[in-house]
Amino acid sequence: MADVKVIQTVSEMHRVADQIRADGLQIGLVPTMGFLHEGHLSLIGRARRCADRVVVSIFVNPTQFGPQEDLEAYPLDFERDRMLIGDFGGDLIYAPDAEEMYPEGYASYVDVEGLTRHLCGASRPGHFRGVTTVVTKLFAAVKPHVAIFGQKDAQQAAVIRRMAQDLNLDVEVLVSPTIREVDGLAKSSRNFYLSPEERQEASVLYQALQKAKCLVADGERRADVVIGEMRELIERRPLAQIDYIEAVDTADLQPMEEFSGEILLALAVQFGKARLIDNLVVHTA
Ligand code: PAF
Repeated sequence: MADVKVIQTVSEMHRVADQIRADGLQIGLVPTMGFLHEGHLSLIGRARRCADRVVVSIFVNPTQFGPQEDLEAYPLDFERDRMLIGDFGGDLIYAPDAEEMYPEGYASYVDVEGLTRHLCGASRPGHFRGVTTVVTKLFAAVKPHVAIFGQKDAQQAAVIRRMAQDLNLDVEVLVSPTIREVDGLAKSSRNFYLSPEERQEASVLYQALQKAKCLVADGERRADVVIGEMRELIERRPLAQIDYIEAVDTADLQPMEEFSGEILLALAVQFGKARLIDNLVVHTA
């Protein structure tokens, strides 16, 4: 196993990042909350290809969880993550604790408007404020040239891209494709919560997205019809509880009634303890 150095403080992370930059090398960052799966490993692989040093951050960020959400139950396996990061080409792990990230008296937050109004922004109030705040802090600590996010969290990626642009953060934000199980279920740390029955039913999310894709390819342009068909398919699964199914413009993430151009079809569905999200981009042209 490759030996991966673990950094736990902002000051040490600054020192190491400054040294890498002074050596004229590029830093790639893969921000994670740990409990890595193949989706994360593909992000590490992408970072490896476009940077000289790959930093993987592991931090379960309390400010992006609502009071009734799964912060306390969020799965962790640091030693397994460390081994995987070494095996898949990571050079460093940045793993501060909550006290290092949000010390006594902490009072600063980053908010992106507009793009956070719908989808998970509507059903998880405050979630993106927590995400953009922690990602800003990760960027400030790690000083990456490039940061890689997954398309599974399409809204998160769009919000972070907007934030980097608006705040003139000197970081290139790249988005890598969703990695799926053989039946189409998007890989997610939260799949761990699924019972065997829930796991079996959860493939309906991908089926619903594929059904929507076929409808659009056949010329359907009415959002309510496409969403209605997706809803009908998912509601046939007794263990599924739909949080939202929405169709939004990829440019501004605002809902569309009549499809044209590039559309993000996104959904969030609860199966027992697991709130799963997935999405697909479709085109009318
Ligand atoms: O996508 C995630 O795992 C988290 O939202 C992130 C980007 C690491 C911020 O905590």
